[in-house]
Amino acid sequence: MTYDDFRAGELQGWDARAEAYDTATARATAQAIPDLLAAVRLAPGMRVLDVCCGPGYAAGAAAALGAETRGIDFAPGMVRQARARFPGLAFDEGDAEHLAFQDASFDAVLCNFGLFHVTAPGRAMSEAFRVLRPGGRYAFSQWCTPEENPVHRLTLGIVRRVADMSIAPPAPDAFTLSDRDTAHGMMVKAGFADIALREVPILLRAPAEGFFDFMMRFGVRIPLILDRQTEMVRAAIHEALDHEAQAFRAGDEIRLPMPAFVVSGQKEGPLP
Ligand SMILES: C[S@@+](CC[C@H](N)C(=O)[O-])C[C@H]1O[C@@H](n2cnc3c(N)ncnc32)[C@H](O)[C@@H]1O
Repeated sequence: MTYDDFRAGELQGWDARAEAYDTATARATAQAIPDLLAAVRLAPGMRVLDVCCGPGYAAGAAAALGAETRGIDFAPGMVRQARARFPGLAFDEGDAEHLAFQDASFDAVLCNFGLFHVTAPGRAMSEAFRVLRPGGRYAFSQWCTPEENPVHRLTLGIVRRVADMSIAPPAPDAFTLSDRDTAHGMMVKAGFADIALREVPILLRAPAEGFFDFMMRFGVRIPLILDRQTEMVRAAIHEALDHEAQAFRAGDEIRLPMPAFVVSGQKEGPLP
């Protein structure tokens, strides 16, 4: 099975969402950055690569703490946003599965909610391992499974109930890495040691009205599924999501826990 349509949809989808990223996705993803930086034991002067950087928040936070950073993302719109937001920091178009850097060129590699968007996450982990110097650390963040995660339980629950999933573009399972043992096993396979996992209790705060529209801006995978559905199915999902989100209303916001975790590991070996 090939995931070509999925990959093209991801690239186009994130590119189109780059300008509005702050108003939706970043409200949740930015909350994991302190844990990501702690997991790589960030210190001033470290050379840090932010993979799937989006508008560059993890690189920006690491640079603010004195790191020397680079960021890569395959969506040109994201790279433009990152450069505009953090002038003076280095951001380039690039593919997480084929990093355009020499072996052992970074002290730390970060990937904030990017790995499950990549077609071959194992390959992206191996690339992170390759570009790390011995003793360097890698950290990535990942959403918990829909069973543990009210945002995904609500949204995917409705989509899976109402949509015809047989016509959705084939896509790698977004929650493979949410299984903590699988994530650990993949890190070991990529070569990492001293693997650690820390839970990150994210809270999503969305506008109380228009939760469906918010979620369409928030991510790319559900819009890719809905693109292929009939108008009637899309309308039914729209109505159900706006309605069911009201159970989580607090004043003028929808507040939903969106738990995640950060996995990190070290490239062992003799220091250069
Ligand atoms: C959920 S966003 C995370 C952005 C950012 N790291 C943050 O902290 O919010 C996922 C990002 O991964 C990027 N992406 C997906 N697949 C990629 C790949 N194969 N190589 C590079 N970037 C990729 C997308 O363009 C998007 O910007």
